[in-house]
Amino acid sequence: HNDDNLSITEHLEKVFTSAIANAYPCFCNVRAIIAAVNVSSPFGDYQCNNAMGLSKKMKIEGIIKAARDIAVDIQKCIPESPIIEKLEVSSAGFINIFLSKKFAVRSLTNMLRDGVRPPRVLKQRVLVDFSSPNIAKQMHVGHLRSTIIGESICRLLEFLQHDVIRINHLGDWGTQFGMLIAHLEDCFPNFINESPPIGDLQEFYKESKKRFDSDDNFKKRAYNRVVTLQKGKTESIKAWQHICDVSRKEFQQIYDRLDVTIHERGESFYQSRMLKVVEFLRVKGLLEFDDGREIMWPDDSKSGIPLTIIKSDGGFTYDTSDMAAIRHRVEEDLATWIIYVVDSGQSTHFNAIFKAAKRCGILNSNVHRVDHVQFGLVLGEDGKKFKTRSGDTVKLADLLDEGMKYSLKQLQERGRDQILTPEELVEAQEAVAYGCIKYTDLSHNRISDYIFSFDKMLDDRGNTAVYLLYTYTRICSIARNSGDDFSNLGAILDTYNIKLDHKKEWKLAKTLLKLHDVLIQCARGLFLHYLCEFCYEVCVVFTEFYDDCYCIEKNKSGQIISVNHSRILLCEATAVVLRKCFHILGLKPVSKM
Ligand code: ARG
Repeated sequence: HNDDNLSITEHLEKVFTSAIANAYPCFCNVRAIIAAVNVSSPFGDYQCNNAMGLSKKMKIEGIIKAARDIAVDIQKCIPESPIIEKLEVSSAGFINIFLSKKFAVRSLTNMLRDGVRPPRVLKQRVLVDFSSPNIAKQMHVGHLRSTIIGESICRLLEFLQHDVIRINHLGDWGTQFGMLIAHLEDCFPNFINESPPIGDLQEFYKESKKRFDSDDNFKKRAYNRVVTLQKGKTESIKAWQHICDVSRKEFQQIYDRLDVTIHERGESFYQSRMLKVVEFLRVKGLLEFDDGREIMWPDDSKSGIPLTIIKSDGGFTYDTSDMAAIRHRVEEDLATWIIYVVDSGQSTHFNAIFKAAKRCGILNSNVHRVDHVQFGLVLGEDGKKFKTRSGDTVKLADLLDEGMKYSLKQLQERGRDQILTPEELVEAQEAVAYGCIKYTDLSHNRISDYIFSFDKMLDDRGNTAVYLLYTYTRICSIARNSGDDFSNLGAILDTYNIKLDHKKEWKLAKTLLKLHDVLIQCARGLFLHYLCEFCYEVCVVFTEFYDDCYCIEKNKSGQIISVNHSRILLCEATAVVLRKCFHILGLKPVSKM
């Protein structure tokens, strides 16, 4: 059925939009406004809010009609719908919509049979530029945020059936390579034949910088190496590759630990394309001389800050590479949606790039969507920039290690090391450590800064990964104790039905059914905290349900005397929804913890 993967709000919008058009043909362009109501409200589950607005519109045309009467007119035009149980018009003119239980049972049953089906969206090719650390520089917490948020956005969009290209726009090109290459030549003269054992690239960077600042001959040679590198001289390219490889390995370790998939396409990839984009802009007459450099204004008003396309020494800049990159993404990748997951500090840059790309005709506003998915800072517990105790920037690998220690400590405090097998313990440890780091990041509105604190992250009350993971394992253990065989769900569903008679069963069902609307909401503005809030709500409502509704009844000596299979199915539906959300948020569901 075609309407099956519409979210509930979309479904209702469709029904109400045509009802409005039927009731008032002169308003056939009005779209229904549907809002979800708190699941505990006695005044319905969803609400249509159009009557008030229509009443005002009529008044302008000299027709006086009360919102309530308009609501009644609309209500009369609502056809029999499988999703609606009943409608009630409030005195103010709201139409309160009560969801049909039959529909809810059917939806949940389908979900148990087929898994969560993606809501219907217009499929696009989306390029997500995320993580994007710089070679030879520390991958810092800002890149951690970009990595975590970017990965989740990719997972969300992939689930929505978009064609997603994941790009690591590595900072692997630029003048700093001149001094790194010159230093490499001195430290490892044999680098052409064997790969140099650079242990600590940050140290290496610092040493070369020191020489660059103090030794004029070295400096000259470093400048020259920038030129030989850009010209593609074999030796310089080789040296550059060695240096990049060292960083690449470090980055990959972080990606592996965090379960991140990304394809490298660094700034160097655009070297020849930068030459081309410069020509492209020049031919269009968009380059202007300014103090020895060539600039481009983002728009015709020539206000704000111009892009520097060619520096006075003839070199290219970050602006040039992003102009080349956006052109490549549109014209060769054929992306219609480009997403940049980069900290808020770069918003001026991206605004300028987007405007300039429109101005020169690379982007067409009718076809392309571009988003700078910006995010705030990670702060230390003192509310200041996140640093180690000694004041250094925090190494990401160290941070992940620390998370592992904290999570092990917590599991030990709960005596889990006594119950779980060593493998299960490690699995739980990783799920908690990486899960809490990711979830803390994703559960805050990304625009704001947040304070990094393992103690807060590992709290098992409130909206934390630990609370969600524990709730999930609880559901798994209920399922295990029920004796039902969930590997054969079809058979269970043939024998038992979901029932939604108890108030708390019904509340849980309605909560689960919001999933599609939440996913659509997340994709609209690329905000994942809505999905986190939803997970938390599911867990809270599940706990309420479980407190009030027995699923498995035991006698005093702990023997099972009866199993309520219909409720076990509801538990399983909750698990299915949570697993889907966990996947998008990068949390690993563990069945024992
Ligand atoms: N390497 C840059 C940084 O660390 C981020 C690159 C973001 N992507 C882009 N297309 N500019 O600040």
